[in-house]
Formats: sequence, structure tokens, C-alpha cells
Amino acid sequence: MNKIRSAITAVHGYVPDYILTNQELETIVDTTDEWITTRTGIKERRIQKGEGLGTSDMGAEAVKGLLEKRGIDPSEVDLLICCTVTPDMKFPATANVITDKAGIKNAFSYDLNAACSGFIYGLVTGSKFVESGMYKKVVVVGADKMSSIVDYTDRQTCVIFGDGAAAVLIEPSSEPNGIMDHEFHSDGSGRVHLHMKAGGSVKPPSHETIDAREHYVYQEGQAVFKFAVTNMADVSASVIKKNNLTGDDIAWLVPHQANMRIIEATARRSCIPMNRVMVNIQRYGNTTNATIPLCLWEWENQMKKGDNIILTAFGGGFTWGAVWLKWAYDSN
Ligand code: UT7
Repeated sequence: MNKIRSAITAVHGYVPDYILTNQELETIVDTTDEWITTRTGIKERRIQKGEGLGTSDMGAEAVKGLLEKRGIDPSEVDLLICCTVTPDMKFPATANVITDKAGIKNAFSYDLNAACSGFIYGLVTGSKFVESGMYKKVVVVGADKMSSIVDYTDRQTCVIFGDGAAAVLIEPSSEPNGIMDHEFHSDGSGRVHLHMKAGGSVKPPSHETIDAREHYVYQEGQAVFKFAVTNMADVSASVIKKNNLTGDDIAWLVPHQANMRIIEATARRSCIPMNRVMVNIQRYGNTTNATIPLCLWEWENQMKKGDNIILTAFGGGFTWGAVWLKWAYDSN
């Protein structure tokens, strides 16, 4: 029996309208456009404004656009996975809310949390349901409203993050294209460097935890930076080598957008020149689960059927990994 392959067959993104510039951040915390630009590469990020709006609203916009673009009725979707660290609420899953808001009635849905590596974990997880032959239309959403967990008095973290969402559709592929290979890792001992201190079962929310600002992202930037540079670069190089590819064979490197210096180090290690690396960090900052699919959305018209593409991410947990895929369609 022939192996069923799975491939991304459509991608769509959504970012909120409000643009938070480095100049505006200069009025909020003790920082400068020059510091943010040279240390991170970020110039601006999007922020979701509006009472009662959350991650699911951005995710649902991305999903509705995705299905419309591919000409698929919401009733055809079998499964929706939402990768996020900023769920609308602790339960139910934001994926359940997205399916409701997008009119998806026949799918099961659940959330997946692997911090900044969530989207690539979700992509591979979703692809396995397709490769098993059980399902034909799986939607994977990467969405985060980081502004809901960022402390705008902490200059080290508030300049980095932004809000956004993007979604891909995975379907069976009859051609030798699609999701080819991956390498994933996690190391829970890294949690001390990047986490949220309160709000979970260990330290439920209380007046004290609020006063101590423990419901915000806690990050030891330098420590995370060191792990991110080494691990994201190594895992990308490893997937390339393991599949007998070289940097010359790779049409596009799609790195998680955490810091321009980490992106450049990863590209160098994989021998891929920067003109073949997708970078939109300057406009969106770090949108956590949305960075990689937002890049795919923005570069969709430039990717060609059969292109070798490497997706790679590093994030809280620690979690990290890389995916090799062969792009499955020409969009123009
Ligand atoms: O996506 C999930 C994974 N996360 C990451 O990959 C993030 C990894 N880390 C980073 O990207 C970087 O560590 C940061 C961008 C967070 C920080 O950059 P850095 O080059 O590591 O700066 P630093 O923490 O070593 O701080 C250097 C200096 C310090 O001042 P002193 O002690 O040298 O006087 C900081 O207080 O820069 C200062 N600083 C700032 N100055 C102006 C820190 N944040 C700011 C700021 N504006 N926003």
C-alpha cells in the first residue's frame, strides 16, 4: 500500500490593525528605537485592542480566510488544532471557540501548547492524522495575544512581543510533496528561564500573585538567547544533513521570529543566505505561535511547488525543532 503523504494546501493570516511602534514604546518604558532595533531587529508590532476580544477572534479570522481562499465549506473540516500560549480562557480549549466562531460544525478540536515551537509541533501532529488515512482536512492555527501576558513595565520583554494569528490547511497529497521529515526536542529543565509564575495549579491566582506581577511572561533573556541560538541552529542543520540536503537545496528557511540575531545565526549554521530566509520580525515582533505561519502567508506567492523549505523554532519549555517540507502548490 502506498504511503499517504500530507501537505499544506493553503495558508492565511490575520494581524490586528493597531501598530505599536518603537517610538510609542519609548513613551512607555525606558528604551530607545536604537536599542530595540540593534538588539532585536524589531521596529513595530501589532496589538489587539477592543473589549472582549482574544486569541480566538484572531484565529477565527485566519481560519475563515483560509477556508474561503481554498473554497472549502467549514463543514468539511475534520480536525482543528490551535497552538497557543494565550488561550481565551483556561478551558475550554481556544480551538473549540475558533471552530464555533468559524462555523466549523463537524470537526473535533483541541489546543496544543509547546510555547514558541507550538506551530511546528501542531503541524506535524495534524499531518499524522492525515497520513493515517483517517482524516482529509486538518486545520492548524498558530495564534497568540501576547499583549495579554506581557508586562508593559518590563522593558526587557515588552518590546519583543506582538499579537497575531495564521492558519494552514493540511490535506492528503498524491504527489511526492508535503511534510517530509522533522526533528523535535524538549527539555523541561529550561522552564526556569522562561515561564509564567502564577495562574496555574502550583500557584493559583490570588491578590498576592497579581500584586507581584506574576501573571506576566518571565524571561531571563540572555540565558534563553544562548539556548535558542545553539539549539535552533543545530536542529535546522541536523534535519538538512539527515536528509542528504545542503543549504543550496533549501529554497526558504522559515525561522521563528524571536530575535534577528538568532535568525542570522541559524541561517549561517545552515549555510542559507539571508535572501532565502523569511523575516518579518521588524513588522510583527515575536507573535509566539503565529510567527512561522505568518511568514508562510506573506511569502506564499514566492514559494513554488517542490521548493524545499525548513521551518524551525525554539521556545519556552524548552522546546525546539525543525521540519522539512516540500511546498505543494504554486499560488500564481
Ligand atoms: O521566543 C521565545 C524565545 N525567546 C527568545 O528567543 C528571546 C531570547 N533573548 C533575546 O532575544 C534577548 O536576550 C533580549 C532581546 C531579550 C535582550 O537582549 P540582550 O542583548 O540579551 O540584552 P541584555 O538582557 O543582556 O541587556 C543588555 C542591557 C542591560 O543593561 P546593562 O545591565 O548592560 O546596563 C539591560 O538592562 O540592555 C538593557 N536593556 C534595555 N535597554 C534599553 C534591556 N532591555 C532594554 C530595552 N531598552 N528594552
